[in-house]
Amino acid sequence: MTTRSVVLRPAAKINLTLRVGPRRADGYHDVRTLLQSIALGDAITFTRRPGPLSLQSRAPGIPADRTNLVLRAAEALWKAAGRSGEPRDVHVRLEKQIPAAAGLGGGSADAAAALVAFNGIWDLRRQRKDLIEIAATLGSDVPFFLYGGTAFATGRGEEVYPVDDIGRLGVVIIKPSFGVGTPDAYRWLDEDRADGAEPSLKFDHGRANRSVDVGWATGPIEIVNDLEAPVARRHPGIGEMISACLREGALTAAMTGSGSAVFGLFSEANAKRAIPKLQRPDWLVVLSRTLTRKEAERRTGV
Ligand code: C5P
Repeated sequence: MTTRSVVLRPAAKINLTLRVGPRRADGYHDVRTLLQSIALGDAITFTRRPGPLSLQSRAPGIPADRTNLVLRAAEALWKAAGRSGEPRDVHVRLEKQIPAAAGLGGGSADAAAALVAFNGIWDLRRQRKDLIEIAATLGSDVPFFLYGGTAFATGRGEEVYPVDDIGRLGVVIIKPSFGVGTPDAYRWLDEDRADGAEPSLKFDHGRANRSVDVGWATGPIEIVNDLEAPVARRHPGIGEMISACLREGALTAAMTGSGSAVFGLFSEANAKRAIPKLQRPDWLVVLSRTLTRKEAERRTGV
């Protein structure tokens, strides 16, 4: 790397499908999920300068200490490369656009981009498969962000299988003022299953079609998230956001990951038209679209 600074713009994800199995002995749940990169990204500037590694972030609620996934990624990579002492010689500026505690993978996307950036800056020459291994130690969905585009993931989410790009769709993200912690969402699912609660809720009296044609020759896919009903029971705002998307012409709408954000899938033109009608003081409403793998890779620098 010859330039002093490099800027990466890791893209957020939505879960088009998220099926969750029972709790495993290690506390995680087996999942089968179809992940999709979207055009909503943080900006991370990595600048070489001598001295200890440092991180600057003005975003409220985002830690700038060693619990930040960007710094944890740096440490994990530094150690895996057998370097001694503390990671050094880089200043990181993190500008958040991806809401936190939303199910959009913001921290994980940043961590994956950090692995790529530090690998280059420190000239470690680790291969992608090594970065993927380190990524899995940082969080279940971090490996996905080293591929991007459309991908299936299994295991606890860390085994990633890239698949064909879907056709371009408009995506509207709504993030309410509350967030949801991932461990809470999984725990609520376990509790609801133990109580025999309904696995899914119908937010528009059953009229919504949860299948969407994404341009695959194999036909439409079912948009379903097993964490949605458990979270929506405890946070009725989830149902309100999904219903609002459907009312404004979404092909379908669902919660992403463990929430609290929901996404509506639209044609690009309809997504744009829906934005002004979805405004509420307690909602952050973002216009986005699906990304191809190439587009996602360009942002993460893979
Ligand atoms: O892997 P990650 O750190 O993102 O997971 C956070 C928490 O979410 C885990 O400690 C676990 O409680 C829950 N989780 C789970 N099953 C998964 C992924 C996450 O139970 N497949």
